[in-house]
Amino acid sequence: MAISLTLRTTLLLFLITLTCPKQCTSHAPLTLKLLLHTKSTKPQESSKKKTGYLHSKSTPSSHLDNSWTTDTSGIVSHVTPIPNPAAFLANISIGNPPVSQLLLIDTGSDLTWIQCLPCKCYPQTIPFFHPSRSSTYRNASCESAPNAMPRIFRDENTGNCRYSLRYRDFSSTRGILAKESLTFQTSDDGLITKPDVVFGCGQDNSGFTQYSGVLGLGPGKFSIVTRNFGSRFSYCFGSLTDPTYPYNILILGEGAKIEGDPTPLHISQDRYYLDLQAISLGENLLDIEPYVFKRYGSHQGGTVIDTGCSPTILAREAYETLSGEIDDLLLGEVMIRHVEGWEPYTNPCYVGNMKLNLLGFPVVTFHFAGGAELALDVESLFVSSESGDSFCLAMSMNTFDDMSVIGAMAQQSYNVGYDLQNMNVYFQRTDCEILDA
Ligand SMILES: *[C@@H]1O[C@H](CO)[C@@H](O)[C@H](O)[C@H]1NC(C)=O
Ligand SMILES: *[C@@H]1O[C@H](CO)[C@@H](O)[C@H](O)[C@H]1NC(C)=O
Repeated sequence: MAISLTLRTTLLLFLITLTCPKQCTSHAPLTLKLLLHTKSTKPQESSKKKTGYLHSKSTPSSHLDNSWTTDTSGIVSHVTPIPNPAAFLANISIGNPPVSQLLLIDTGSDLTWIQCLPCKCYPQTIPFFHPSRSSTYRNASCESAPNAMPRIFRDENTGNCRYSLRYRDFSSTRGILAKESLTFQTSDDGLITKPDVVFGCGQDNSGFTQYSGVLGLGPGKFSIVTRNFGSRFSYCFGSLTDPTYPYNILILGEGAKIEGDPTPLHISQDRYYLDLQAISLGENLLDIEPYVFKRYGSHQGGTVIDTGCSPTILAREAYETLSGEIDDLLLGEVMIRHVEGWEPYTNPCYVGNMKLNLLGFPVVTFHFAGGAELALDVESLFVSSESGDSFCLAMSMNTFDDMSVIGAMAQQSYNVGYDLQNMNVYFQRTDCEILDA
């Protein structure tokens, strides 16, 4: 009795973290229908602080290259994973003197925001950003953000421009638009500073934890990608559960690694859509009608790539088929038991040890237009309970609008390159260590 209770509690805990909407806030706009004219972004939190691979610069300011030439070839940020909620965080420095902040890498939203003192802030793992201690901080006017995606309005009392974003789980950030210098590392271990980047100085943030804010890499007008870094970026993610792996990286601008197999990219509703066409389990192409992945209506269906969303989300028919096949395989051949009380359609869960019991489990492959593929191995498909005696499928079904989402979990062990000029996304399964610098 005590044992099953414990199991249930553990399981419940991680089910909640896996399905919690805040892990997929960028997805919120779609499913949310703008709760109060708010915009959607999505943050996450991070707790890993020590990775050991970030070289601290002894005298950062002496290395600053404030010229910010058009050669943006070497702008990189080291990336730290956090397993719970599953997310990849970029280490970016802000202000002068620069202080580092950990931001959720989010291809599903546009506004970059950072918790700013003084504030009603949630706890983060590194010190808060203090605008009054930075010589480069400026309040920004609403004119600096024409057509901004987040709802903004001029505060008549102060003349500042206020923004407000709310996510579907009611987590939110509110504050003022500001301009700051962002300092990035360069591929040759130097530093480069980009002045006057408009961002949200978050003064009232809730519903998140651990990380300092969100790095909005979405395709909208407000995104730092489109506003500051031209038309290319790439990221290489290792494992979400290995914070010591030093090669996870985000590259902004011309130096992005655009490698591997391309698939056409479509931008709509400020989201990156890919053309997912089929899913296979091992050698077997699953019987899913291709229309299941297509966009329809004004903005329903389709497949979005969104690093700010932890799990993979599939449209009902695709989810039912894939999870059904996986269930058959596990219960039939591997002889695993369902964890009691799992809810069909939200993460089937099993009694067993993920590493031991799923040895040799077939890869699930997502097939995209043009031939690009994303292969999901056990680590990308399942999450283990902390105790290691049960595990769940790290996917959920979108019952709301049939949109499918390729989240952070599914992108482990891949370099993903975005070329917004030629409108392609490139997938390359790789060990990030061997990406040439
Ligand atoms: C972020 O990068 C800076 C500069 O390289 C480094 O000093 C700091 O330790 C890093 N922070 C984290 C949390 O990794
Ligand atoms: C920004 O605006 C706030 C009022 O909202 C003000 O207290 C602060 O001094 C301003 N900062 C700068 C650098 O102008």
